[in-house]
Amino acid sequence: MKLIISLLILICTLKLSFGCEGDFNPTTANIGQCSASQTVGWVPAAPEYGTETLKVWTPEELSPEERDMHEHRMAYILAISKQTRRKFVTSIYAQNGTLLCHGVNTGKPNLMTHGEVAAINNCTSLYNISSYTNMTLYTTGEPCAMCLIVVWGTWNSDLMCKVCMGQIPMDSNYIFSRYYGVRATPPTLIGGILRNETDAWFTPYCNNPASPYYVKPKCACYNSTSPLVINQVSSSTWYEGPNNTKYSQFDGKILNNANYAVNNPTFTSSPSGVKPRTIWGLKNEGGDIWSLSYYPVISGNGGAFPFGYISTQEITFKAN
Ligand SMILES: *[C@@H]1O[C@H](CO)[C@@H](O)[C@H](O)[C@H]1NC(C)=O
Ligand SMILES: *[C@@H]1O[C@H](CO)[C@@H](O)[C@H](O)[C@H]1NC(C)=O
Ligand SMILES: *[C@@H]1O[C@H](CO)[C@@H](O)[C@H](O)[C@H]1NC(C)=O
Ligand SMILES: *[C@@H]1O[C@H](CO)[C@@H](O)[C@H](O)[C@H]1NC(C)=O
Ligand SMILES: *[C@@H]1O[C@H](CO)[C@@H](O)[C@H](O)[C@H]1NC(C)=O
Ligand SMILES: *[C@@H]1O[C@H](CO)[C@@H](O)[C@H](O)[C@H]1NC(C)=O
Ligand SMILES: *[C@@H]1O[C@H](CO)[C@@H](O)[C@H](O)[C@H]1NC(C)=O
Repeated sequence: MKLIISLLILICTLKLSFGCEGDFNPTTANIGQCSASQTVGWVPAAPEYGTETLKVWTPEELSPEERDMHEHRMAYILAISKQTRRKFVTSIYAQNGTLLCHGVNTGKPNLMTHGEVAAINNCTSLYNISSYTNMTLYTTGEPCAMCLIVVWGTWNSDLMCKVCMGQIPMDSNYIFSRYYGVRATPPTLIGGILRNETDAWFTPYCNNPASPYYVKPKCACYNSTSPLVINQVSSSTWYEGPNNTKYSQFDGKILNNANYAVNNPTFTSSPSGVKPRTIWGLKNEGGDIWSLSYYPVISGNGGAFPFGYISTQEITFKAN
């Protein structure tokens, strides 16, 4: 009996060291959502918004009270930033609004000690915090971070493309938009708080290629005015109803002559407050704002999107 048990133990040990049947092999295993014969990809990052990435709120979209609060908190770390002569400073607030700690990117003990990491280290050692759920993180420059609400001053794209400061050419909301891999609810992102002041504090290095912070920017420059051109013609007119009201049908085309695709464009109609009786191709987003009613991308190099409406008067649409 003892021998049999010993043998069994030996066989099991051998099996362990040589690999047991049913070992997990990711190229042949059918475990999880995708089968072994399929390749694997990510679902759209923010399908609830119909877009690839989460929305980043701008100061103009906040209530005056909220904006004021964020600006005060940003001013606090900007002051520490200037005092310590370090660009990247981060603070963390509890859900009840209490300032918990701050952190400064000093490059010490190593290059990984970004402002956010310094703050998280600081808060963790001060309060033994194991989860930053529901806390708000503020940072002078667009971050890579892990709280529920993240508020920043300067955008990465401005750092590289306007200040010539070395920076990963990536919008942080691309990373945050993959929140579903690590948490149940999306974080709230607010960018550009006290942007004027934070931008000015991130001194331009463009004329100082000798600086260790300098990079030669590689940037795509999009005109701030939309490249979309909208043409419309009245295709027919008729009279209707007891008052012989005049109606016209207008057929329109939105053209993109730029060499890049335009995603999720919006349009403003005028005269303000005038709505067509029916419209196709565009849908109302409230007030005088309109968006594309189906596939929300107009490809570049002459991509076109048709729309039309019936109205008692001509309504002009301008791309925002
Ligand atoms: C706010 O929350 C922090 C962290 O949970 C706690 O230490 C602090 O006492 C709270 N302050 C108030 C006023 O409730
Ligand atoms: C950690 O945060 C506290 C509270 O804000 C602050 O007093 C302290 O200076 C910070 N420590 C470091 C190393 O930044
Ligand atoms: C820190 O928190 C963990 C649980 O989150 C606890 O086990 C540990 O004892 C705490 N350490 C201190 C120093 O309070
Ligand atoms: C976070 O906030 C939500 C909403 O106020 C609350 O339901 C939840 O319990 C909070 N979670 C933690 C870990 O504080
Ligand atoms: C930021 O600067 C611009 C241009 O100088 C100015 O028009 C705007 O009022 C400033 N905004 C704030 C909040 O200071
Ligand atoms: C027709 O005109 C009269 C008087 O201007 C107005 O009261 C009525 O509402 C109009 N009817 C329609 C269907 O527009
Ligand atoms: C951007 O603006 C410039 C100057 O107004 C113009 O020449 C150029 O064609 C525009 N580019 C696009 C893609 O609209």
